[in-house]
Amino acid sequence: MLDAAESKRLLGLVSKEGDPTRGEAVFRRSALACLSCHAIGGAGGIVGPDLSGIGTSAQRDYLLESIVMPSKIVREGYNTANVVTTSGKVIRGIVQRESPKELVIRDPKGADIVVAADDIEEKSLGGSLMPDGLDRSLTDAELVDLVRFLSEVGRPGPYSVSHVPVARRWEVLIDPPATVRGLDAHELGRTLRENAGLAWKAAFSRVAGDIPHDEFGKPPEIVFLRTQIEVITPGRIGFDIGSSDGVQVWADDAPVAAAERTTCTLSAGLHSITFRIDLGRRSKPLLRCELVELPGGGRARFVSQSP
Ligand code: HEC
Repeated sequence: MLDAAESKRLLGLVSKEGDPTRGEAVFRRSALACLSCHAIGGAGGIVGPDLSGIGTSAQRDYLLESIVMPSKIVREGYNTANVVTTSGKVIRGIVQRESPKELVIRDPKGADIVVAADDIEEKSLGGSLMPDGLDRSLTDAELVDLVRFLSEVGRPGPYSVSHVPVARRWEVLIDPPATVRGLDAHELGRTLRENAGLAWKAAFSRVAGDIPHDEFGKPPEIVFLRTQIEVITPGRIGFDIGSSDGVQVWADDAPVAAAERTTCTLSAGLHSITFRIDLGRRSKPLLRCELVELPGGGRARFVSQSP
């Protein structure tokens, strides 16, 4: 329970000992699923409110309560509906739209479910879709770091959400199957594109725009990371990736020469940019990929960027 004395004790620790860097790592833990519901700078889920400016709009006591007791104050526009349908199905989610004909609710995975008004047997409103007790798996120090991190997000400094066009939404392929080993770059490009059986998973950049080095395994492992861009004006497009050590790049299925500024020529429309990364040959961070417009070149944006 979070009574006034406990809240005061923890908030004192947030100021004295809270570390936003460690707090961001807590926020990114897949077991807590914060990122599967909340986005920062377009990176993350769409079920809960976007947290890009949370450090400027919320006080620390509110942040602490939001994590420990999510249903105490449910943010406006995030009312949870509990629906039982005439066929006995139970659906819980955030009300998106309601009309005399139908109710649209967003489930915890982010899918919008349309329920016809005639199919609703019972409906009640209440609580937050954010699970209770997420703090129970955290030590006090981790909770304190997490609150400190959120209190800095969006403020000037290392946790401001910049408008630099950096890739924030990724898919990662960890521990690629044996079938992709030993292929040359052209075959590999085709296999990665065509093989629907590969277990790509969602991954997101940190607020600063980079992917940390230690989240996908240990050297000498190989991981693949891919992101999507939309080319608005066709032409040459540049990607600044810091260092090309241990990196191979594909635009769609075509190999591209990796360089600090990697360039390729792309047609208008959607394209995927894929990186093969040798963890053992990368120093920190694992990857940060910024779009650069080249003189006389094309124009593009990451699909994660807000329009
Ligand atoms: C299943 C989805 C889900 C998960 C997982 C989740 N949240 Fe939430 N969160 C929500 C929803 C929905 C709301 C809005 C309703 C409310 O105020 O409780 C919310 C509200 C919040 C708020 C208040 C935001 C505001 O603008 O008022 C904060 C802060 C927050 N969550 C942080 C976290 C953190 C940190 C984690 C991980 C420990 C987390 N959430 C995990 C869905 C989720």
